This record gives sequence, C-alpha cells and structure tokens, in this order.
Amino acid sequence: MSEPRQILVTSALPYANGSIHLGHMLEYIQTDMWVRFQKLRGNQCIYVCADDAHGSAIMLRAEKEGITPEQLIANVQAEHSADFADFLVDFDNYHSTHSEENRELSSLIYTRLRDAGHIATRSVTQYFDPEKGMFLADRFIKGTCPKCAAEDQYGDNCEKCGATYAPTELKNPKSAISGATPVLRDSQHFFFKLPDFQAMLQQWTRSGTLQDAVANKLAEWLDSGLQEWDISRDAPYFGFEIPGEPGKYFYVWLDAPIGYMASFKNLCARRPELDFDAFWKEDSTAELYHFIGKDIVNFHALFWPAMLEGAGLRKPTAVNVHGYLTVNGAKMSKSRGTFIKARTYLDHLQPEYLRYYYAAKLGRGVDDLDLNLEDFVQKVNSDLVGKVVNIASRCAGFIHKGNDGVMVAGDAAPELTEAFLAAAPSIAEAYEARDFGRAMREIMALADRANAWIADKAPWSLAKQEGKQDEVQAICAQGVNLFRQLVIYLKPVLPVLAADAEAFLNVAPLTWNDHQSRLENHQLNPFKALMSRIEPAKVEAMIAASKEDLLAAEAKTAPAGNGELAKDPLSAEIEFDTFAAVDLRVALIVKAEAVPGADKLLQLTLDIGDERRNVFSGIKSAYPDPSQLEGRLTMMVANLKPRKMRFGVSEGMVMAAGPGGEEIYLLSPDSGAKPGQRIK
Ligand code: MSP
Ligand code: ZN
Repeated sequence: MSEPRQILVTSALPYANGSIHLGHMLEYIQTDMWVRFQKLRGNQCIYVCADDAHGSAIMLRAEKEGITPEQLIANVQAEHSADFADFLVDFDNYHSTHSEENRELSSLIYTRLRDAGHIATRSVTQYFDPEKGMFLADRFIKGTCPKCAAEDQYGDNCEKCGATYAPTELKNPKSAISGATPVLRDSQHFFFKLPDFQAMLQQWTRSGTLQDAVANKLAEWLDSGLQEWDISRDAPYFGFEIPGEPGKYFYVWLDAPIGYMASFKNLCARRPELDFDAFWKEDSTAELYHFIGKDIVNFHALFWPAMLEGAGLRKPTAVNVHGYLTVNGAKMSKSRGTFIKARTYLDHLQPEYLRYYYAAKLGRGVDDLDLNLEDFVQKVNSDLVGKVVNIASRCAGFIHKGNDGVMVAGDAAPELTEAFLAAAPSIAEAYEARDFGRAMREIMALADRANAWIADKAPWSLAKQEGKQDEVQAICAQGVNLFRQLVIYLKPVLPVLAADAEAFLNVAPLTWNDHQSRLENHQLNPFKALMSRIEPAKVEAMIAASKEDLLAAEAKTAPAGNGELAKDPLSAEIEFDTFAAVDLRVALIVKAEAVPGADKLLQLTLDIGDERRNVFSGIKSAYPDPSQLEGRLTMMVANLKPRKMRFGVSEGMVMAAGPGGEEIYLLSPDSGAKPGQRIK
C-alpha cells in the first residue's frame, strides 16, 4: 500500500446574508462526496468551510433588520450549518471569515505582500452618498441610462438597452440606499499588483491545476494583460481594518479565501495531530483542493494563487470548477417554484435522493447541470429503490426464514464475484477524477447484473420446491454479498443508506478495501426497508412550498421601497427583460369543447392571426357550456413551451382571473382588437 495522502479540501464560503438553495448544494454535495471517498480510501482528508461574513451588503442588511452585523451573521451561520448537516455534508470544521484567526492571517498576508512591494496606493474618484456618509458601489447607484434614457437603471449597466458605462455617466444619479444625490469624492485606495504575477500565473494555470475549459478562459484575460486589483474600501464597512491604515478596510474578496486557512487553523487548535504550517508552507507536500462554481474563477485561479505566492505560501494543487444548476431546464425561478431552498427540500424529501441525482449527473466539466424533477423521481426510484435496495430485500427474507439469518459459505456465482471485484479500480478512478456520473453508471451496471442473475435463479420459486433449500441459501447469500459490495461503492454518495445497510449486515463501518472480502457463515440482523420510493406528490408539495416562500418574502419586502431591495435575492420583482420575453397575444376562440375523461379541462382552438393553436385550459367549471366561448376574443401567452398532456399537446395558455370553481373570468380585450396583435 502507498502512504496515505494528506489532503485539505474546501468549498466556496457562502455569503452570510442569504439562505442556502439547491444551486449551492450542488457544490457542497459534490465536495462532500469527494471527501468521503478519500476518507473511505484511508487518506487523511480534511474538509473545511466557513460563512463569508464581510461586505457592505451584509452591513446594510443588518441595519435594515435592526440588528448588528454580528447578530445577523450568527443567525445565518446557525441556519447554514443546520442545512449542511441535514444534507449530510460533513465538514471537519465550519467557521466564519469574521474570526480572530482570519484577522491575523489576513493581516499577515497583507503585510508580507506590502513588504515585498506588491501593494500600490492611489487616489480613486467615486460617488459618495452625503446623507448616508458612505461611498457607493455601482450596484447602489441608480439613474437614467445615458444611451437610451431608460429610468431607474443601475450604476454600471442598463437592463433596457444593455449598454455598459461608468456610474459617473448616469444621468440624474441617486443613491439606492438613501435616495440622496451622490457627489464625487476622492479617496486613497490600496491595490494588489497582480501584474507582478503574470509569468507565474501563465505557467500555473497551464500546469494541470485547472480544467482545460477554465484555463482557456483565463488565457483570454492573461493575454490581454492583468490589472491591479483594488483591495480596500472606506469606512463604514463591515470587515477588517487594514493594519496601519485607520478608516480603510480590506475588500471582502481579499479576506474571503484567507478564510479557508482561518477555518483550518481553527480546527488545528482542536486537533493536535494537524500541523498548520505543514499544510501551508511553500514546499508543502500536502494537497490542497478548492471546489468552486464557474462565477468565481478569477478570484480563485488568479488573485488567490498570486496572493499565496507573494506571501511565500503554497499554491492550490487544483481548483475544481463546476457549472450552474438549472431546474427543469431553466434558471431557478421563484414564480415557477423552482427556486428551492435547502430547507424547503428537506421539509419534503430525503437528502440522499438529491445526493444520488447530483452524483449521477456530475462529470468533470464545467457544464451546467439540470435538475429535471420528473427525471429525478424516475431515476432515484428506478436505480436506488428498484435496483440496489431491491437486491437485499429480495434475499434477506429467505435467509431469515430458511437459515435463522445466517449467510452460508461458498460462492454461488464466481463470474459475478469476479466482475464486482474487477470493477473497483475503475470506479475509484472515476471518483478520484470527480467523474461521479461514470462511477454511478458503472455501479448501476453491476446492480443490473446482480438483479438479472437473481431473477434467473428465482429463489422464490425454488423455495417452494422440496430439497432446494441449500440452493436458495447459496443464491441469497451471494445476493447479499453483492449488495454489500454495491453499498461500499456507493458509500461516498449515500452515507445513511450505508449506515443502515451496515446495521442490517451486522458489520463494522465499511471501508473501500472491504470490497475484497465477503461475508460467510455470518449472522445478519433483521431487514428493515432501507429506502422508500419518492412520491411525486412530495415533489409537487415542495414546489408549492417554494412558491409560498416567495409570498412570504414578498410580504416581508413590500413596504420598504428601497432601491437596494430590487437586487435582494428574496425579492419577487422581475426584470423588464423577463417581462418583455413573454409573448402576449390577442386570440380568437374558434372552437371550445369539453375533453372526454377530464372534468376540469376545455380544449380550445385559438386563432392568433397567422396560425392556430391548440390549448387545454382548466376553466370548465366556469363554462359548463363551452360553445358560448366560441367567437370570443381573449388573451394568450403564445410562447409558453408546448406541454404534452394526457389528451394532447397544449401550445400556450389563456389568461383568466378569479379564485376558481365557477368564479373564473376569462380576460378579453376591448372591441376592435384583432387576433394575433401583441399585447404591450
Ligand atoms: N462568498 C463567495 C465565495 C467566497 S469563497 C472564498 C460566494 N458565495 S455564494 O454564496 O454566492 O456562492 C457560494 C458557491 O455556490 C459558489 O461557488 C457559487 O458558484 C455556488 N453557487 C451559487 N449558486 C449556484 C447555482 N445556481 N448552481 C451551482 N452553484 C452555485 O460566491
Ligand atoms: Zn439604456
């Protein structure tokens, strides 16, 4: 056996001003599965994370809630920690960037950079809110677009015409915080001289530390020349004051990655066998991996290695980048109920369902990953319940009934035993490479073989025949041994299923190497159902609850009328572009009929000028005589994705108001409107 590796792993530090959602969970689950795999293999692997607690957004949010930033970040940290624990994300330490360790390390790294000549200072002119007494980041300034004159646009780009500009070009600028007219003011800023590290980064980004797609993207930046990075913010700011520079604070992204080190340092104080310096010194032989999303690559693959190099510390072994989560093929949407918080999911479904689905779909690349909820139900039910757990539940009963729960010795299917053993290196390789999808496919292919073999041997029919008891016992013992191997291979993804299986198998916690042995003359414990199927109704309830979250958030944010809220992740406002993307048309109802076999639906044929559409609509309760609708104008959403229903394909939606039942009121335009006209 080779020496166990020493590995330090991180996930990005979530901001301490919002809830964890299923997009975040993709990252924490991905990292956790990789860490659990390393631990199962016997490596020393440490997984640390923390809340990212600094910045003006957190300061302003606390102010609005009437609490101190410290209270806000404590509340959020408790919420985050509970979400992660319940998703079985097993950090060795979860800390905060607003910690003593982080203050010391940030100050150490900064002074080393400064003393080595990597910090520059110069004056910067910026908008300042005279009422609030603070400089305004671009997103806290609103005004009229200099190009198209659209009102209420943010300080750096226009959502109406897409123009980008400097905040000083905005007409009629206003502070989104106080509403005051901002004034221009100069102030001294501190810069990290990133160009000093151009050559190192050119080499480092191409040395196997990054996925090719990521390295290619960074090459564009590197080739066009790096800029100095502004690392200071003026008071008031929630963060660390820069040593020796009263009133100047580190920009949140300066101390955020140092938070990885701080969390590890905090852990080292509790775990004397861990040597902080051994992990972070320049020539460390320990491995260091950061798992992040594609939106924060520049911070981790340019600024961070440069900071480490400049401070005489080791650089990451690799930065592993993943894509973004979409739900049902689209960006997570609050109105569709697909903006799902970690807690809302947990209120309805088991964490391991999602862990398995993410594993099945995660590859090594940076592509976005789609959580298709129908596919999710189908895949989890068919693979985990239908294939894996099924093997144990088919075999356990016969062993208990026929042999007092004792597995007999002997190998009833040597070719299967051999195949299950032979698959281990390839599955391990896939895990190591973060190709979880391939690992899951290989494991499920084994499960298929095991099920086919058991089905072929049919112990349930043999059990009814005279003199076949030995054969039944041999088959079922083999089945349970195969199941046990599958559990080992799946353990990084499904730790609870593994623990329950270990209890049934009556064995100590399984490690990777246990796949080489088998159970013989071994007493089992009674079998309990290991995993139940996902009921689609639970998924629907989760979607409905996510819409309720939205209503609660609307109620909470409605009265404030503060410009900043428009960008609040909880706000229900939509951008103009989102609205403009809806193709609303005047439609003539050419035909309206009841749908046989559906008590709520009408089938409508709609004329929208240049084409006819078939639309199913749940309005029958209000229009028991559908023919009365024929010849009438209404409004329809014409670019809704066609939906396959039991009765046919619905190609759009008509618009109606009212609570339901008899009280449904189909909307109509004034007379004179023509079919096909767009509603603006
Ligand atoms: N605080 C910074 C990270 C600092 S690391 C030194 C931050 N926080 S975040 O809360 O916005 O995001 C945390 C992680 O979740 C990031 O890696 C981000 O890419 C990831 N995700 C956030 N939304 C996501 C999806 N919808 N899909 C996949 N990952 C997503 O960035
Ligand atoms: Zn514009």
